[in-house]
Amino acid sequence: MNSHSTETLVEKAINARNNAYCPYSGFAVGAALLCEDGEVFTGVNVENASFPVGLCAERSAVSAAVASGKRRFTAIAIVGGKVGENITKPCSPCGMCRQFLSELCSDDFKVILAVSRDNYKTLTLSELLPCLFDL
Ligand code: THU
Repeated sequence: MNSHSTETLVEKAINARNNAYCPYSGFAVGAALLCEDGEVFTGVNVENASFPVGLCAERSAVSAAVASGKRRFTAIAIVGGKVGENITKPCSPCGMCRQFLSELCSDDFKVILAVSRDNYKTLTLSELLPCLFDL
């Protein structure tokens, strides 16, 4: 994955974020998941009046990809922040999403935490979730 495709992935997460449904938190998150075959699936957070029912952007992207038959993933770009405000810091995946990603993504799967197209940092899944739960 070169820096161009990282920026492309970040851009897709930024664009997807416009579709976030977050009337309760006002915090919009977009994610773009790169499959091993080069296809990209996006996801957004989808909230619910019953708050715990809401879905994070990362799990939404993985679910869309799996529904299309994908099983092997290379990277995910994530961007989040308050609606109507400039994004100033990276949005790191919540614990539940880290565990969810770990089901189908390897230790060296890249998690790109983006502030903008050219401002992001990349961590591996194992850096974000050491000692993950597995059966
Ligand atoms: N959220 C995500 O979409 N991804 C994360 O990793 C953290 C949190 C969403 C959930 C909720 O809709 C909003 O951000 C505020 O917590």
